[in-house]
Amino acid sequence: MADYTLKLRRFDPESGKAAYWEDFGVDLPPERSVLDGILQARSRDDGSIAIRCSCQAAICGSCAVRINGKTALACNTKLGEAQDMARSRRGREEITVEPMGNFPVLKDLVVDMDAVHWKKVQRVVPWLLPEGDPPEREYIVPAEAMIDITQSMACIQCGACVGACLSLEADPEFIGPAALAKAYRFIGDPRDGQHEERLKDLAEDPHGLYDCTHCFACVEVCPKDVAPMNQIMRLRRMATSDYEIKDKNSGYGHEKAFVNLIEKYGTLHESQLLPRSYGQGSLIRSQVDPSSLKQLTASLPTVIGGLKSGKVSPVKALIHHKLPDQKQIRRIFHEIESEDERLELNLYIVGEEATEEEGAMAEGKGSET
Ligand code: SF4
Ligand code: SF4
Ligand code: FES
Repeated sequence: MADYTLKLRRFDPESGKAAYWEDFGVDLPPERSVLDGILQARSRDDGSIAIRCSCQAAICGSCAVRINGKTALACNTKLGEAQDMARSRRGREEITVEPMGNFPVLKDLVVDMDAVHWKKVQRVVPWLLPEGDPPEREYIVPAEAMIDITQSMACIQCGACVGACLSLEADPEFIGPAALAKAYRFIGDPRDGQHEERLKDLAEDPHGLYDCTHCFACVEVCPKDVAPMNQIMRLRRMATSDYEIKDKNSGYGHEKAFVNLIEKYGTLHESQLLPRSYGQGSLIRSQVDPSSLKQLTASLPTVIGGLKSGKVSPVKALIHHKLPDQKQIRRIFHEIESEDERLELNLYIVGEEATEEEGAMAEGKGSET
């Protein structure tokens, strides 16, 4: 009996047949990769299995597929781990391998990277646009200025984040996580002279910066810890706080509305969020500005639907209590705003909780200093 069963999604556009699943037995130890298993099936059972691969070491980025429904590099996923995942996720022994989502399939596990991924990367102008005459010799950049962009530079263009992105599923025109992380690589680079123009372009695009819904899928699947969503949030902070770009997608207004409401009430006054977002953060402006009024009118059917279904109650919509300790929230705001430079608060920390012992040690250190 084979050590593992790989259930591969097969599709050959030339055959005229619909896609189907086919099982292959694989005889390999658990530490070998899913890619090793696919290559064994291809050399031993069926030479027509199509998979794209090269380095077999998580470097070239060509073997991204969906394993048990989760996007990953086939060469970077061990057979033993994949089987454990199949058991825990689906209660099955077979490891399913299928092409990535959000891409047209060319054959079996090979997707059309040009049609989606590379097209989107080209959209963000993926090269430096320096201003002025070039220096006689090379550009000299302080090392610390480059640290900020090393995370986005680690991308191997595998497209796993694109394949997993939930916003892309809903809006295939979304520029997407990999291309936006690439955009940060240039907007964070001091040699580039078009930061504001690039940010304005991405903020104004209806499929741009504000199309991400913070689902974390790209952060979870990226094999190189690029954390594309974090790069998108950095771009948003630069667009709103550094350049004050008031985009027609109300991204700027939405952020201002959130901040202003929390400062005022301590919790989110949801019925004010929409009008304030259209009014660049201000409730009054939303009621006098013609373009805000137009957007508000267009949203009326959704509001009426919410009232009818009981999701929104008129009393709750109108009366929103402040937190009893609201002054403390204001104090935090005041403290942050009195800083000369913007504080980069990383809200997306990934890691493990400290053990009790580690926590106690950290506390002990804190009290000594
Ligand atoms: S966090 Fe944003 S970019 Fe990342 S997968 Fe989710 S919607 Fe897409
Ligand atoms: S950001 Fe990560 S998942 Fe996305 S293409 Fe780059 S390496 Fe792959
Ligand atoms: S074969 Fe190169 S990343 Fe998997």
